[in-house]
Amino acid sequence: MEQALEQQAVSMPRIGDPAPEFTAVTTQGEINFPSDFSGSWVILFSHPADFTPVCTSEFMTFATMEDKFAEANCKLVGLSIDGLYSHIAWLRTIKEKIEYKGMKDVEVMFPLIEDIKMDVAKKYGMIQPNEDTTKAVRAVFFIDPKGTIRTIIYYPLSLGRNFEELYRVIIALQAADEFGVATPADWQPGDDVIIGPAGSCGTAKERMEDEDIDCKDWFFCTKKLDKETVLNKILKKK
Ligand code: BEZ
Repeated sequence: MEQALEQQAVSMPRIGDPAPEFTAVTTQGEINFPSDFSGSWVILFSHPADFTPVCTSEFMTFATMEDKFAEANCKLVGLSIDGLYSHIAWLRTIKEKIEYKGMKDVEVMFPLIEDIKMDVAKKYGMIQPNEDTTKAVRAVFFIDPKGTIRTIIYYPLSLGRNFEELYRVIIALQAADEFGVATPADWQPGDDVIIGPAGSCGTAKERMEDEDIDCKDWFFCTKKLDKETVLNKILKKK
């Protein structure tokens, strides 16, 4: 029994898996996940606790960037192992009292899940007992419009996330899908992209000779993909 509980506490979905389903109470009403978000990308993320400083800085940053994520067809859903009234009180405090790095009067409009029983946190492997047995780590699940998990990033309790990186991930995943390419280290829209590996000697030779393709060697070929083309495809027109 104890072993089963321990297993449950550390089990986690993987990249390529369907996002585990759940129904939850949130600061924006009840949600059915992921079906309510079908057709959108979603970032489901956890934070350790309400009324803590790193989490407050993160929520202010994420809420300030919510429109930018929405333009990229991406919705945000937060979670911590706190109750609904704690969530409401914390979000009210953030709006009314906290000023940080030029951000103030910040209203968190995206849903924040109450997960006092840890049901969702356990399903998503957000409790990592050697870090903390009662607080969720800073997990980030990127889920595509069909409800498939496409990227997972975990941070420990002490480390605030880089939200520009989370945005870069959303754009890069969509660019990979839309243009059938891969994105190299530190890729940003406008940088060259990587084309898939050659599947035959003939393709490898053709690529080496193609003026539009830049091959460092037969297995490492890039091509231009301009920023406007990427962003016009991905970002919703205002
Ligand atoms: C924070 O958000 O400040 C925090 C939460 C839990 C542990 C450490 C820091």
